[in-house]
Amino acid sequence: MKQLISLEVNGDRHEIAVEPDATLLEVLRDHLGLLGTKQGCDSGGCGCCTVHIGDRAVYSCMKYALSAQHQKITTIEGLGADGKLDAVQDAFVREGAVQCGYCTCGMIMTAKQLLHDDPHPDEDAIRHGIAGNLCRCTGYHKIVEAIRTAARD
Ligand code: FES
Ligand code: FES
Repeated sequence: MKQLISLEVNGDRHEIAVEPDATLLEVLRDHLGLLGTKQGCDSGGCGCCTVHIGDRAVYSCMKYALSAQHQKITTIEGLGADGKLDAVQDAFVREGAVQCGYCTCGMIMTAKQLLHDDPHPDEDAIRHGIAGNLCRCTGYHKIVEAIRTAARD
C-alpha cells in the first residue's frame, strides 16, 4: 500500500505517495521527473545514480525513499545558480570529460563530495575518490583532469 512521504529535493518540498520499497532513484526519476540522475545497474555497482543526501554522496538506487525524509537531497539539477553551471560541471565541459554522458551526473556529484572532503586532491586521491563511479567511454583521464581543474579554479 502506498504511503505519503515528504522529500526536500533541490530546496523544494514534495509530498509524494510511494510504495514502501520505492528507491530514492525511482522517486526522483519517475515521480519528480529529475532525469539527470541515471539508472544503470540498480544494485550499487556503477555510481550513475549518485546524489547528495546532506553533504554525502550516495547511490540513490540503494536508498529507500522513505529513509531519505527529513534530509536535504541534491541532484545534478540542483547545482549551479542564476543559469550558470556549477564549477565542477563547468570544468567537465571545458576539459571534454563528457562523451555519452551517462555516467557524468553521478560522476560530478561524487567529484563534489571529493572536493568537499579534500579541496586539493592529487591524482591518486581523485582516482580513489571516483572509484565507485564507472565510465565506459572516457578512459577516466579527462575526468581526472576536470576534477583537477575544478580544484584549481
Ligand atoms: S544505478 Fe545505482 S549504483 Fe548503479
Ligand atoms: S561518458 Fe559515457 S559512460 Fe562516461
